[in-house]
Amino acid sequence: MTGNEAPPHEPVMVAEVTGYLRDRKTVIDMTVGAGGHAGALLDAGVDLVVGIDRDPSALALAGRRLETFGERFRPVASRFSEVDEDVAGGRVDGVLYDLGVSSMQLDEPDRGFGYRLEGPLDMRMGGEGPTAAELVNGLAEEDLANLIFEFGQEHRSRRIARAIVRARPLDTTDALARVVAGAVGRRPGGPHPARRTFQALRIAVNREIEELAASLPQAVDLLAPGGRVVVIAYHSLEDRIAKRTFREDGRLAILTKKPLRPSQAEVAANPRARSAKLRAAERVDEAA
Ligand SMILES: C[S@@+](CC[C@H](N)C(=O)[O-])C[C@H]1O[C@@H](n2cnc3c(N)ncnc32)[C@H](O)[C@@H]1O
Repeated sequence: MTGNEAPPHEPVMVAEVTGYLRDRKTVIDMTVGAGGHAGALLDAGVDLVVGIDRDPSALALAGRRLETFGERFRPVASRFSEVDEDVAGGRVDGVLYDLGVSSMQLDEPDRGFGYRLEGPLDMRMGGEGPTAAELVNGLAEEDLANLIFEFGQEHRSRRIARAIVRARPLDTTDALARVVAGAVGRRPGGPHPARRTFQALRIAVNREIEELAASLPQAVDLLAPGGRVVVIAYHSLEDRIAKRTFREDGRLAILTKKPLRPSQAEVAANPRARSAKLRAAERVDEAA
């Protein structure tokens, strides 16, 4: 990629991703974001990258940043669960998922992802679905607690849900962050007390677990023989879906016996890489 300015989103485990996908002709990047991985793949000699994102602003940014590659980069606005051969333009030799939220989404107050920023409680990556405010203000206390527990891996979920229900309606990120902090207290030097609650709401709003579970088997359908799929997950539920699908699909040889983790140097330079787990597999059946 060209340009000297700092990337809007630092891509994670780039050398590992290009290591698995470099010799491919066509790769679908299911989560193109700012185009960091897509650009690295094009630089490494992939002929064509089809870049998918449900967030139109990410897609526009990726398009601008990858302009120099001309027709070798093809942006497509879609949820990845809806990507089929028509969207992909035929069978492909590689598929990449770099899951979760981008730095651009987190850093933009109006999107409502940030617990440190003041904004509306939105958290939708694309335009569709309920907002975080609708979930926070509409769910029964028990459902809210279960959601925060499951998607946030937050063991204080019941206390948090009770405090939210008492304080509703809540319409802004800072109001929610204050209520959560008030319910569970702040540990000096520890992570923000609302971090897990925000993560849980984001996953629910965007149906992130359902999206991946629906999309991964379809991605294997799309792979030509010898094609590879690479998944970078930041949450154990997502990593479990990748692990299970790879094991149970029946068409794949697993290339990563254990998930790869970023180096200490990468985590020090890019704390967002901290929880990343990368799994890769190759299609080995005689694909129809
Ligand atoms: C972690 S970022 C990807 C960053 C990218 N790899 C880069 O190098 O810039 C994840 C992106 O995936 C998108 N995304 C998440 N879930 C999606 C889905 N189900 N369908 C399409 N895009 C999705 C988000 O909008 C976000 O832009």
